[in-house]
Amino acid sequence: TWTMANIVDETVTAVRAQVGAKRVICALSGGVDSAVAAALVQKAVGAQLTCVYVDHGLMRQGETEQVERDYVAATGVDLHVVDAADRFLTQLKGVEDPEEKRKIIGREFIRVFETAARDIVAAAGEDGVEPVEFLVQGTLYPDVVESGGGEGTANIKSHHNVGGLPDDLQFTLIEPLRTLFKDEVRAVGEELGLPAEMVWRQPFPGPGLAIRIVGAVDSERLAILRRADAIARAELTAAGLDREVWQFPVVLLADVRSVGVQGDGRTYGHPIVLRPVSSEDAMTADWSRLPYEVLERISTRITNEVREVNRVVLDVTSKPPGTIEWE
Ligand code: XMP
Repeated sequence: TWTMANIVDETVTAVRAQVGAKRVICALSGGVDSAVAAALVQKAVGAQLTCVYVDHGLMRQGETEQVERDYVAATGVDLHVVDAADRFLTQLKGVEDPEEKRKIIGREFIRVFETAARDIVAAAGEDGVEPVEFLVQGTLYPDVVESGGGEGTANIKSHHNVGGLPDDLQFTLIEPLRTLFKDEVRAVGEELGLPAEMVWRQPFPGPGLAIRIVGAVDSERLAILRRADAIARAELTAAGLDREVWQFPVVLLADVRSVGVQGDGRTYGHPIVLRPVSSEDAMTADWSRLPYEVLERISTRITNEVREVNRVVLDVTSKPPGTIEWE
């Protein structure tokens, strides 16, 4: 029978045969696909794999720790973390245009990853093990179909993959998820014992919170949004609705202010937009009819716990005409 255990065994055998005694690197994003792809390759070739996690400082609360701590604990993988938050924030300073933000983040990501890859290649020669030859990509079956399906030439939509890595990186690709759909990838992740928070994570854009701050990005604004987002996610989870909702962007309108009354006085704060959507594939989406009690708890907690926010509003636009993200 065709079980997840079979899929894991067959993939592990195939990867082991492909890699031999060579070294492999993999960029981890914190998302499901790269996490499962890396875990499969790690199971196949162990310490021959080095993972690179570029912390761009635009992740949500707890996500970097999930990779640095929980993922390493679950897999024992050799992880190379690059803390590049300052670099990304410096480059993003004063930038308001969404596409400009994406361009900067994509460019910086590639630079940081290339430097890390060079360091790993250089270090690899020193211990007598073969140099790095392979790069792992979490390409899924739908990506293969969309890109025309040439062997080893996966062209993942750049929109969906911050640091769609440059062609001249000169590695052979390993794509252990090429025959799988998303639900199968999740099942494989569970089979491999990965943290449930990673395996069941909703899609999250590569540029992270930078495209959920309408306006320029800075560390204060990121901190505000991070706290509001953590509350919204926690309440959705507490209500048992994680799997009902496709994605739940929480957006800070950083350049908008409105008058409120909080505690003893008048405030002049920022609105937070809740954008829960249901969808099959992100191409079209409908706004989620979250229960009023859940919306109320999120609103009350955000305005009580995040001083800078005095208004919580709900986005009731479908896609089209609205996109899922605000930027
Ligand atoms: P939109 O906002 O276009 O989003 O309706 C469709 C899906 O794509 C995600 N998204 C991105 N993912 N880099 C990514 O990796 C991006 O720049 C990006 N922009 C949007 C969005 O979260 C949704 O899942």
